[in-house]
Amino acid sequence: MMETPEIKQNVAHTVTERVVQSGMTVGLGTGSTAIHAVRRIGALLAEGAISDILAVATSFESTIEAQRLGIPVRTLNDPQINGAVDIAIDGADEVDVRTGYLIKGGGGALTLEKLVEYNAGTLYVVVDESKLSVQLGRLYPIPVEIIPAALASARRMIGVLGLRPELRMAQRKAGPVVTDNGNLILDVHLDGTDVDADAIAGYDNIVMATSTWGAGDLQDDWEDFLPNLDDVDFGGKKVAIMGLGDQENYGDTFVDGMAILADKVEEKGGTIVGHTSTDGYAYDNSEAEKDGNFIGLVIDEDNQSDATDARVKKWAADLKTAFS
Ligand SMILES: Cc1cc2nc3c(=O)[nH]c(=O)nc-3n(C[C@H](O)[C@H](O)[C@H](O)COP(=O)(O)O)c2cc1C
Repeated sequence: MMETPEIKQNVAHTVTERVVQSGMTVGLGTGSTAIHAVRRIGALLAEGAISDILAVATSFESTIEAQRLGIPVRTLNDPQINGAVDIAIDGADEVDVRTGYLIKGGGGALTLEKLVEYNAGTLYVVVDESKLSVQLGRLYPIPVEIIPAALASARRMIGVLGLRPELRMAQRKAGPVVTDNGNLILDVHLDGTDVDADAIAGYDNIVMATSTWGAGDLQDDWEDFLPNLDDVDFGGKKVAIMGLGDQENYGDTFVDGMAILADKVEEKGGTIVGHTSTDGYAYDNSEAEKDGNFIGLVIDEDNQSDATDARVKKWAADLKTAFS
Protein backbone atom coordinates (compact mmCIF):
# COMPACT_ATOMS: atom_id res chain seq x y z
CA MET A 1 0.00 0.00 0.00
CA MET A 2 1.21 3.51 -0.79
CA GLU A 3 2.26 5.76 2.07
CA THR A 4 0.35 9.03 2.51
CA PRO A 5 3.06 11.31 0.98
CA GLU A 6 3.00 9.23 -2.20
CA ILE A 7 -0.80 9.27 -2.36
CA LYS A 8 -0.75 13.06 -1.94
CA GLN A 9 1.71 13.45 -4.74
CA ASN A 10 -0.08 11.09 -7.12
CA VAL A 11 -3.51 12.61 -6.52
CA ALA A 12 -2.19 16.18 -6.79
CA HIS A 13 -0.46 15.28 -10.08
CA THR A 14 -3.57 13.59 -11.49
CA VAL A 15 -5.87 16.48 -10.55
CA THR A 16 -3.43 19.01 -11.99
CA GLU A 17 -3.11 17.14 -15.29
CA ARG A 18 -6.88 16.87 -15.62
CA VAL A 19 -7.91 20.40 -14.75
CA VAL A 20 -5.14 22.82 -15.72
CA GLN A 21 -5.46 23.91 -19.34
CA SER A 22 -3.50 26.35 -21.50
CA GLY A 23 -4.49 29.96 -21.06
CA MET A 24 -5.85 29.54 -17.54
CA THR A 25 -5.27 31.69 -14.49
CA VAL A 26 -4.56 29.34 -11.61
CA GLY A 27 -4.58 29.87 -7.85
CA LEU A 28 -1.75 27.97 -6.20
CA GLY A 29 -2.46 26.62 -2.73
CA THR A 30 0.01 26.19 0.08
CA GLY A 31 1.28 23.17 1.96
CA SER A 32 2.56 19.66 1.47
CA THR A 33 -0.17 18.62 -1.00
CA ALA A 34 -0.50 21.86 -2.93
CA ILE A 35 3.24 22.00 -3.55
CA HIS A 36 2.91 18.86 -5.71
CA ALA A 37 0.32 20.63 -7.87
CA VAL A 38 2.67 23.60 -8.27
CA ARG A 39 5.49 21.28 -9.28
CA ARG A 40 3.27 19.44 -11.76
CA ILE A 41 2.21 22.72 -13.38
CA GLY A 42 5.89 23.65 -13.65
CA ALA A 43 6.68 20.31 -15.27
CA LEU A 44 3.75 20.50 -17.71
CA LEU A 45 4.85 23.99 -18.75
CA ALA A 46 8.47 22.84 -19.18
CA GLU A 47 7.32 19.87 -21.30
CA GLY A 48 5.22 22.18 -23.44
CA ALA A 49 2.08 20.21 -22.56
CA ILE A 50 0.43 23.48 -21.49
CA SER A 51 1.20 27.16 -22.08
CA ASP A 52 0.06 30.69 -21.20
CA ILE A 53 -0.55 29.99 -17.53
CA LEU A 54 -0.69 32.85 -15.05
CA ALA A 55 -0.54 31.87 -11.40
CA VAL A 56 -1.68 33.62 -8.24
CA ALA A 57 0.17 32.23 -5.25
CA THR A 58 -1.33 32.03 -1.74
CA SER A 59 1.95 32.28 0.20
CA PHE A 60 5.65 32.98 0.04
CA GLU A 61 6.09 29.21 -0.15
CA SER A 62 4.07 28.77 -3.33
CA THR A 63 5.41 32.02 -4.81
CA ILE A 64 9.00 30.91 -4.36
CA GLU A 65 8.33 27.42 -5.73
CA ALA A 66 6.38 28.73 -8.72
CA GLN A 67 9.07 31.27 -9.56
CA ARG A 68 11.77 28.60 -9.23
CA LEU A 69 9.89 26.54 -11.80
CA GLY A 70 9.38 29.44 -14.20
CA ILE A 71 5.62 29.73 -13.64
CA PRO A 72 4.61 33.40 -14.11
CA VAL A 73 3.20 34.65 -10.79
CA ARG A 74 0.84 37.64 -10.48
CA THR A 75 -1.05 39.14 -7.57
CA LEU A 76 -4.84 39.05 -7.37
CA ASN A 77 -4.78 42.81 -7.98
CA ASP A 78 -2.81 42.51 -11.22
CA PRO A 79 -4.90 43.84 -14.15
CA GLN A 80 -4.37 40.55 -16.02
CA ILE A 81 -5.97 38.70 -13.08
CA ASN A 82 -8.47 41.38 -12.05
CA GLY A 83 -9.42 39.80 -8.73
CA ALA A 84 -10.40 36.31 -9.90
CA VAL A 85 -8.77 33.12 -11.18
CA ASP A 86 -10.21 30.35 -13.36
CA ILE A 87 -9.33 27.56 -10.96
CA ALA A 88 -7.41 26.99 -7.74
CA ILE A 89 -5.84 23.80 -6.40
CA ASP A 90 -5.10 23.32 -2.72
CA GLY A 91 -5.07 20.81 0.13
CA ALA A 92 -7.03 21.04 3.39
CA ASP A 93 -6.42 20.07 6.99
CA GLU A 94 -9.82 18.54 7.63
CA VAL A 95 -12.89 17.86 5.49
CA ASP A 96 -16.39 17.25 6.85
CA VAL A 97 -17.50 14.19 4.88
CA ARG A 98 -21.16 15.16 5.01
CA THR A 99 -21.07 18.87 4.24
CA GLY A 100 -17.74 19.21 2.42
CA TYR A 101 -16.82 22.10 4.74
CA LEU A 102 -13.09 22.50 5.24
CA ILE A 103 -10.58 23.54 7.85
CA LYS A 104 -7.65 25.25 6.21
CA GLY A 105 -4.72 27.10 7.64
CA GLY A 106 -2.31 24.46 8.95
CA GLY A 107 0.40 26.12 6.90
CA GLY A 108 -0.55 29.56 8.20
CA ALA A 109 -1.55 30.87 4.76
CA LEU A 110 -5.28 30.82 5.41
CA THR A 111 -6.22 34.41 4.66
CA LEU A 112 -4.65 34.55 1.21
CA GLU A 113 -5.84 31.01 0.49
CA LYS A 114 -9.40 32.03 1.27
CA LEU A 115 -9.08 35.24 -0.71
CA VAL A 116 -7.76 33.53 -3.82
CA GLU A 117 -9.92 30.42 -3.53
CA TYR A 118 -13.22 32.22 -2.93
CA ASN A 119 -12.41 34.09 -6.11
CA ALA A 120 -11.71 30.96 -8.14
CA GLY A 121 -14.22 29.72 -10.72
CA THR A 122 -13.59 26.21 -9.38
CA LEU A 123 -11.61 25.15 -6.34
CA TYR A 124 -10.09 21.66 -6.42
CA VAL A 125 -9.27 20.38 -2.94
CA VAL A 126 -6.87 17.45 -2.84
CA VAL A 127 -6.99 15.35 0.33
CA ASP A 128 -6.34 11.76 1.30
CA GLU A 129 -8.62 9.85 3.62
CA SER A 130 -6.65 10.84 6.73
CA LYS A 131 -8.26 14.32 6.40
CA LEU A 132 -11.85 13.08 6.35
CA SER A 133 -13.84 13.76 9.48
CA VAL A 134 -17.38 13.44 10.79
CA GLN A 135 -17.12 16.72 12.69
CA LEU A 136 -14.84 19.64 11.92
CA GLY A 137 -12.45 20.45 14.73
CA ARG A 138 -11.96 16.85 15.78
CA LEU A 139 -8.72 16.34 13.81
CA TYR A 140 -7.48 19.89 13.69
CA PRO A 141 -8.08 23.15 15.57
CA ILE A 142 -9.60 26.00 13.56
CA PRO A 143 -6.91 28.56 12.66
CA VAL A 144 -7.91 32.21 12.93
CA GLU A 145 -5.59 34.91 11.61
CA ILE A 146 -5.73 38.10 13.64
CA ILE A 147 -3.99 41.43 13.48
CA PRO A 148 -1.55 41.67 16.43
CA ALA A 149 -3.47 44.55 18.04
CA ALA A 150 -6.50 42.24 18.37
CA LEU A 151 -4.70 39.41 20.21
CA ALA A 152 -6.12 39.94 23.69
CA SER A 153 -9.64 40.82 22.60
CA ALA A 154 -9.82 37.97 20.08
CA ARG A 155 -8.64 35.53 22.75
CA ARG A 156 -11.23 36.84 25.19
CA MET A 157 -14.12 36.67 22.70
CA ILE A 158 -13.19 33.16 21.58
CA GLY A 159 -13.03 32.12 25.23
CA VAL A 160 -16.50 33.59 25.81
CA LEU A 161 -17.77 31.22 23.11
CA GLY A 162 -16.51 28.31 25.24
CA LEU A 163 -13.63 27.58 22.87
CA ARG A 164 -9.91 27.41 23.63
CA PRO A 165 -7.62 29.70 21.58
CA GLU A 166 -3.95 28.81 21.46
CA LEU A 167 -1.41 31.24 20.04
CA ARG A 168 0.57 29.38 17.39
CA MET A 169 4.24 29.49 18.32
CA ALA A 170 7.10 29.44 15.83
CA GLN A 171 9.68 26.72 15.55
CA ARG A 172 13.34 27.69 15.11
CA LYS A 173 12.33 31.30 15.90
CA ALA A 174 11.53 32.76 19.30
CA GLY A 175 7.94 33.91 19.80
CA PRO A 176 4.74 33.40 17.82
CA VAL A 177 4.27 32.52 14.16
CA VAL A 178 3.99 35.70 12.11
CA THR A 179 2.05 35.12 8.89
CA ASP A 180 2.93 36.33 5.39
CA ASN A 181 0.61 39.27 6.17
CA GLY A 182 2.41 40.18 9.41
CA ASN A 183 -0.39 38.77 11.58
CA LEU A 184 -0.69 36.16 14.34
CA ILE A 185 -2.60 32.88 14.36
CA LEU A 186 -4.88 31.57 17.06
CA ASP A 187 -5.56 27.83 16.74
CA VAL A 188 -9.03 27.46 18.19
CA HIS A 189 -9.70 24.12 19.89
CA LEU A 190 -13.28 22.92 20.06
CA ASP A 191 -12.63 20.44 22.85
CA GLY A 192 -15.76 20.93 24.86
CA THR A 193 -14.61 18.21 27.23
CA ASP A 194 -12.22 20.77 28.75
CA VAL A 195 -15.26 22.55 30.19
CA ASP A 196 -15.25 22.49 33.97
CA ALA A 197 -18.44 20.98 35.43
CA ASP A 198 -17.94 23.16 38.54
CA ALA A 199 -18.60 26.23 36.41
CA ILE A 200 -22.24 25.13 36.11
CA ALA A 201 -22.71 25.82 39.83
CA GLY A 202 -22.46 29.56 39.16
CA TYR A 203 -25.50 29.67 36.85
CA ASP A 204 -29.24 29.31 37.52
CA ASN A 205 -30.29 29.24 33.84
CA ILE A 206 -28.45 26.87 31.55
CA VAL A 207 -28.74 25.93 27.87
CA MET A 208 -27.33 22.58 26.76
CA ALA A 209 -27.04 21.41 23.17
CA THR A 210 -26.16 18.08 21.64
CA SER A 211 -26.49 16.31 18.34
CA THR A 212 -27.52 12.67 18.36
CA TRP A 213 -24.97 10.25 17.01
CA GLY A 214 -24.53 6.53 16.53
CA ALA A 215 -28.28 5.84 16.43
CA GLY A 216 -29.65 7.29 19.65
CA ASP A 217 -26.39 8.19 21.41
CA LEU A 218 -25.03 11.47 22.66
CA GLN A 219 -22.46 13.32 20.58
CA ASP A 220 -18.99 11.99 21.56
CA ASP A 221 -17.76 14.98 23.60
CA TRP A 222 -20.99 14.92 25.58
CA GLU A 223 -20.67 11.16 26.02
CA ASP A 224 -17.25 11.68 27.63
CA PHE A 225 -18.41 14.65 29.70
CA LEU A 226 -21.72 13.29 30.99
CA PRO A 227 -20.29 11.49 34.07
CA ASN A 228 -19.01 14.90 35.30
CA LEU A 229 -22.63 16.00 35.73
CA ASP A 230 -23.02 13.41 38.49
CA ASP A 231 -21.16 15.81 40.80
CA VAL A 232 -23.36 18.81 39.93
CA ASP A 233 -26.34 19.81 42.07
CA PHE A 234 -28.99 21.05 39.62
CA GLY A 235 -31.43 21.86 42.45
CA GLY A 236 -33.14 25.22 41.67
CA LYS A 237 -31.62 25.40 38.20
CA LYS A 238 -33.59 25.68 34.96
CA VAL A 239 -32.11 23.88 31.98
CA ALA A 240 -33.16 24.29 28.34
CA ILE A 241 -31.98 21.64 25.89
CA MET A 242 -31.40 21.95 22.17
CA GLY A 243 -30.83 18.94 19.94
CA LEU A 244 -29.68 18.32 16.38
CA GLY A 245 -30.88 15.25 14.53
CA ASP A 246 -32.01 13.77 11.25
CA GLN A 247 -35.67 12.70 11.17
CA GLU A 248 -35.46 11.01 7.75
CA ASN A 249 -32.47 8.74 8.24
CA TYR A 250 -32.80 8.26 11.99
CA GLY A 251 -36.57 8.36 12.37
CA ASP A 252 -36.56 5.73 15.14
CA THR A 253 -34.06 7.53 17.35
CA PHE A 254 -34.77 11.12 16.37
CA VAL A 255 -32.82 13.53 18.65
CA ASP A 256 -32.72 10.87 21.39
CA GLY A 257 -29.51 12.43 22.77
CA MET A 258 -31.61 15.28 24.20
CA ALA A 259 -33.43 12.83 26.46
CA ILE A 260 -30.15 11.47 27.83
CA LEU A 261 -29.21 15.01 28.93
CA ALA A 262 -32.68 15.76 30.27
CA ASP A 263 -32.76 12.53 32.31
CA LYS A 264 -29.42 13.37 33.90
CA VAL A 265 -30.46 16.96 34.74
CA GLU A 266 -33.73 15.79 36.32
CA GLU A 267 -31.95 13.01 38.21
CA LYS A 268 -29.72 15.71 39.74
CA GLY A 269 -32.69 17.90 40.73
CA GLY A 270 -32.92 20.34 37.77
CA THR A 271 -36.03 21.52 35.92
CA ILE A 272 -36.27 21.24 32.13
CA VAL A 273 -37.78 24.31 30.45
CA GLY A 274 -38.30 25.35 26.82
CA HIS A 275 -40.55 22.54 25.58
CA THR A 276 -41.61 22.90 21.93
CA SER A 277 -44.33 21.54 19.66
CA THR A 278 -43.71 18.46 17.49
CA ASP A 279 -45.74 20.07 14.66
CA GLY A 280 -43.83 20.19 11.40
CA TYR A 281 -41.63 17.16 12.13
CA ALA A 282 -42.18 13.61 10.77
CA TYR A 283 -40.47 10.72 12.57
CA ASP A 284 -41.38 7.32 14.01
CA ASN A 285 -40.01 7.56 17.52
CA SER A 286 -38.18 10.06 19.68
CA GLU A 287 -37.17 9.75 23.30
CA ALA A 288 -37.15 13.56 23.29
CA GLU A 289 -40.94 13.62 22.94
CA LYS A 290 -42.74 13.78 26.29
CA ASP A 291 -46.51 14.25 26.67
CA GLY A 292 -46.88 15.20 23.00
CA ASN A 293 -44.17 17.88 22.98
CA PHE A 294 -40.43 17.92 22.52
CA ILE A 295 -38.49 18.52 25.74
CA GLY A 296 -36.53 21.29 24.04
CA LEU A 297 -35.65 22.85 20.70
CA VAL A 298 -35.24 20.34 17.88
CA ILE A 299 -33.16 21.30 14.85
CA ASP A 300 -32.89 19.17 11.73
CA GLU A 301 -30.25 20.79 9.56
CA ASP A 302 -30.13 17.74 7.30
CA ASN A 303 -33.74 17.97 6.14
CA GLN A 304 -35.29 21.22 7.38
CA SER A 305 -32.51 23.80 7.47
CA ASP A 306 -34.92 26.42 6.11
CA ALA A 307 -36.94 26.16 9.32
CA THR A 308 -33.98 26.55 11.67
CA ASP A 309 -33.87 30.31 11.87
CA ALA A 310 -37.52 30.72 12.82
CA ARG A 311 -37.35 27.80 15.28
CA VAL A 312 -34.32 29.27 17.06
CA LYS A 313 -35.85 32.75 17.23
CA LYS A 314 -39.13 31.49 18.67
CA TRP A 315 -37.35 29.31 21.23
CA ALA A 316 -35.03 32.15 22.28
CA ALA A 317 -38.08 34.38 22.84
CA ASP A 318 -39.82 31.62 24.84
CA LEU A 319 -36.71 31.10 26.97
CA LYS A 320 -36.67 34.76 27.99
CA THR A 321 -39.95 34.07 29.75
CA ALA A 322 -39.01 30.60 31.00
CA PHE A 323 -35.76 31.87 32.49
CA SER A 324 -37.26 34.96 34.10
C1 LIG B 1 -23.32 8.08 12.27
C2 LIG B 1 -24.47 8.99 12.53
C3 LIG B 1 -25.45 8.65 13.42
C4 LIG B 1 -26.53 9.50 13.66
N1 LIG B 1 -27.51 9.11 14.51
C5 LIG B 1 -28.60 9.90 14.67
C6 LIG B 1 -29.68 9.49 15.51
O1 LIG B 1 -29.68 8.42 16.10
N2 LIG B 1 -30.73 10.33 15.66
C7 LIG B 1 -30.80 11.55 15.02
O2 LIG B 1 -31.79 12.25 15.18
N3 LIG B 1 -29.77 11.96 14.21
C8 LIG B 1 -28.69 11.16 14.02
N4 LIG B 1 -27.68 11.56 13.20
C9 LIG B 1 -27.80 12.86 12.50
C10 LIG B 1 -27.03 13.96 13.20
O3 LIG B 1 -27.46 14.18 14.53
C11 LIG B 1 -27.24 15.25 12.42
O4 LIG B 1 -26.66 15.08 11.13
C12 LIG B 1 -26.66 16.48 13.09
O5 LIG B 1 -26.98 17.61 12.32
C13 LIG B 1 -25.14 16.36 13.29
O6 LIG B 1 -24.65 17.54 13.87
P1 LIG B 1 -23.07 17.69 14.23
O7 LIG B 1 -22.33 17.45 12.95
O8 LIG B 1 -22.95 19.10 14.75
O9 LIG B 1 -22.77 16.67 15.26
C14 LIG B 1 -26.61 10.74 12.99
C15 LIG B 1 -25.59 11.10 12.10
C16 LIG B 1 -24.54 10.24 11.86
C17 LIG B 1 -23.47 10.66 10.89
